[in-house]
Amino acid sequence: TSTALRSVLTFTVSLARTAGVLILEGSQAIQATPDVNEKKNSVDLVTEYDVAVEELVKSEIAKAYPHFKFIGEESYSSGTRPELTDEPTFCVDPIDGTTNFVHGFPFACISLGLIYQKRPVMGVIFNPFLDHLYTALEGQGAYLTRGSNQPLKLPLSAPKPLPSLSKALMAIEWGSDRGSEALTGKSNSFLRLAGDPNDGIAGGRMGHSLRSMGSAALNYCMVAQGGLDMYWEIGCWPWDVCAGIVIAQESGGVVTGSHTAFANSQADPFKVTPEILTGRKYLVVRAIADTPSESGG
Ligand code: IPD
Repeated sequence: TSTALRSVLTFTVSLARTAGVLILEGSQAIQATPDVNEKKNSVDLVTEYDVAVEELVKSEIAKAYPHFKFIGEESYSSGTRPELTDEPTFCVDPIDGTTNFVHGFPFACISLGLIYQKRPVMGVIFNPFLDHLYTALEGQGAYLTRGSNQPLKLPLSAPKPLPSLSKALMAIEWGSDRGSEALTGKSNSFLRLAGDPNDGIAGGRMGHSLRSMGSAALNYCMVAQGGLDMYWEIGCWPWDVCAGIVIAQESGGVVTGSHTAFANSQADPFKVTPEILTGRKYLVVRAIADTPSESGG
């Protein structure tokens, strides 16, 4: 029920703020004495703080909601890979933007999503560096709360439909897969989003510019806030996007994991399904008013 969901939200917000303290302490400590583990390659980072924050969050959730399931980035990496069921399931990235966290670039956050009956229904994303808290419940809007002493709570609405990609400020991410196939595909898409069609870039849309914030979750929030018109990435995991999906959708944005959206299909490509949660390709926009070709990637 919505009352039950509200109380899960209150619990989750307080958990996010507690985790935020640990994230801030960790970021300072790690810059003093770097202790970084390179997961898959030298750009896929994990620190003892990712693990510690996930442990904290997991154990608090287990105490408060013992019957809820838990999917977390670090648990998944160490082999705990629960199936997605109809049960309430937290989907958590303890530190999204680990590379930023390690470097002290203040765009890192904890991302806590709740999935129920295989749909994301709650999102809480907290950036402790800037004290920005983003929250959303399905059907009840999305909010940004700035500051914790005298908090200012602002409703989020992705304002106008995106007029055209050529007028858009767009987020893209490099991700951690730097092999030739992945990187060539991504770079070609970046070229088409930014490049001048009259000066050698076939299919170029010459968007206003491209940004890489280094956190998938915060990119979703920035689209919800209207600061970005679109975010596109290949290679995200469910915990990177689960909370952001609810926040972006509740602000009026459109989320899809399928590139049928590019074709403005009459079907309902925007419905969030388990497929989107387990897909690896995401597009989040204020609203679609342009139709890049599918082959364009
Ligand atoms: C990563 C960040 C990054 C994005 C990757 C994510 P992590 O999450 O959000 O911006 O490009 O796809 O996996 O590793 O910092 O939790």
